[in-house]
Amino acid sequence: MAEQTDASPWVPASRELPDLESAAHECRGCELWRPATQVVFSTGTRSAGVMLVGEQPGDQEDRQGEPFVGPAGRVLDDALEAAGIDRAAAYLTNAVKHFRFEPRGKRRIHAKPELRHLVACHPWLDAELEAVAPRAVVALGATAARAVLGRPVKIGEIRGKLLDELPDRVALVTTHPSAVLRLRGREGYDEAFGDLVADLRLVAPDA
Ligand code: URA
Ligand code: SF4
Repeated sequence: MAEQTDASPWVPASRELPDLESAAHECRGCELWRPATQVVFSTGTRSAGVMLVGEQPGDQEDRQGEPFVGPAGRVLDDALEAAGIDRAAAYLTNAVKHFRFEPRGKRRIHAKPELRHLVACHPWLDAELEAVAPRAVVALGATAARAVLGRPVKIGEIRGKLLDELPDRVALVTTHPSAVLRLRGREGYDEAFGDLVADLRLVAPDA
C-alpha cells in the first residue's frame, strides 16, 4: 500500500500566520490542490480567542481564496453576530484547505473530503492552533469535529456542549452552517439557526 503522504513537508517552522499561508500555497500534501483554483487558508488574527473550523472551502471560497465568503459564510456571519462574537476578532479556517468537487457540466459539485484528506491536511491545523492558541475551538459539523477532536462523533450527541478533552483549550462542536442553509425557506430553519446561535454563545467573550 502506498504510504500516506501529508502536508508536513510543506509546513514551515515559523508560526507567523503570513508565513504559514504563503507556504500553504505550495502544498502538495494530497491531490486536492490540482483541480482547485487556489488554497484557501484562513482569515483572522493570531490574537483571536475563538477559532472556528469548517470542513473545506466551497465554490466561492475557492474562487476568492477566503474562507466562508459564500452562502454558508453568510449564515455563519449572521449566527456569529447574533451570538455576540465579532467575526473580525475570530479566526476562521477549514479542516481541509482545498476545495474538493466533482465537475458536473459547468458546475462544480461539493464532494466531502475523505478521512485521508483530513489526515493529510491536519499539519496545517496543528500549526494554526500553535500560532493562534485560541481559548476555544469550534468545529462546524462532523467532518471538522473529526479533525479537531481526532475521533468520529455524531453531531446529534455531541453538539452544544463545552468539551474539555483537548489539553489547551475548550472545544465545542456545532452544526455546519451549510446544514442550516439547506433548511432555508422550510420548516425547521428558525430552530436550526437558533440552535447554532445558542451553541456559539457558549464561547462568546461575555459567556
Ligand atoms: N463551508 C466550509 O466548511 N468552509 C468554508 O470556508 C465555506 C463553506
Ligand atoms: Fe495540502 Fe491540504 Fe491542499 Fe491537500 S488539501 S494539498 S494537504 S493544503
